[in-house]
Amino acid sequence: MEAWSRLESGKGKTIGLVPTMGFFHEGHLSLMRMAKGLADRVVVSLFVNPTQFGPGEDLATYPTSFAQDQESAAANGAAILFAPTAEAMYPPGSRTTVVVSGLTDTLCGASRPGHFTGVTTVVSKLFHLVRPDLAVFGQKDFQQLAVIRRMCLDLNMGIEIIGHPIVREADGLAMSSRNSYLTGSQRESALCLSRALKLARQLAAGGERSASRLADACRGLITSYPEATVDYISFVHQATLKDVSTVDRNTVLALAVKIGDKVRLIDNGYVRRPVSSYLESSDEPC
Ligand code: PAF
Repeated sequence: MEAWSRLESGKGKTIGLVPTMGFFHEGHLSLMRMAKGLADRVVVSLFVNPTQFGPGEDLATYPTSFAQDQESAAANGAAILFAPTAEAMYPPGSRTTVVVSGLTDTLCGASRPGHFTGVTTVVSKLFHLVRPDLAVFGQKDFQQLAVIRRMCLDLNMGIEIIGHPIVREADGLAMSSRNSYLTGSQRESALCLSRALKLARQLAAGGERSASRLADACRGLITSYPEATVDYISFVHQATLKDVSTVDRNTVLALAVKIGDKVRLIDNGYVRRPVSSYLESSDEPC
């Protein structure tokens, strides 16, 4: 991987990386197409990273479709599908991790201790192996994007981190490989996340500014769906990820909801039209 990247960079080609854990859906494919529009060569990494899964999480059952993924990556602009083994990524004796403090204590970091250390460590390793000029990540993992941006700045990695807007099914459900775990009735309940976002936006448009009242309304809606249990409903500043009490144009509503016993889904979005959207046509964190 490193030799190919050095060769391409030596030829003056820019490299865009799309890090993934595979089982591609339209969300992944749109990240690849975006990278293809921004860089001369696209590398898609496919690695189900064991260090970002906690005990009792779905590492053993994480869905895979390697042959199909190979075809889809090639069809969507990837020059290389880089799929290392766990032994190659974490040889015996590995002792180094990358920790971004502060930003990783809240939201998914609070619910999944150690998760972000696994993410930042593997993403750093992928950056060193692939040596990209830019990397594209989905905004569904809004905290992950903020953490990786911080890591790149703090460690002078010099890689441009690009966020791609959330890709949704026609009925609003944010695309996720984990949606494949949902039964038919759970798939209906999973709509509670995007509907809670919609409700918060409607109430904010009607003048409600209190984060706690908006959170109560979202909780009421989410818990009215069968099998839906709230992990968190947080109104946070889009860059610092700190809780806010009053929603403004920097406020993102971040949601994590468990559907049934096993499936934990996340979603997020600005509550009020963000300042950036007056310049670009995006309503997601950027
Ligand atoms: O977002 C993901 O799929 C993973 O967290 C990533 C960035 C590929 C690291 O394993």
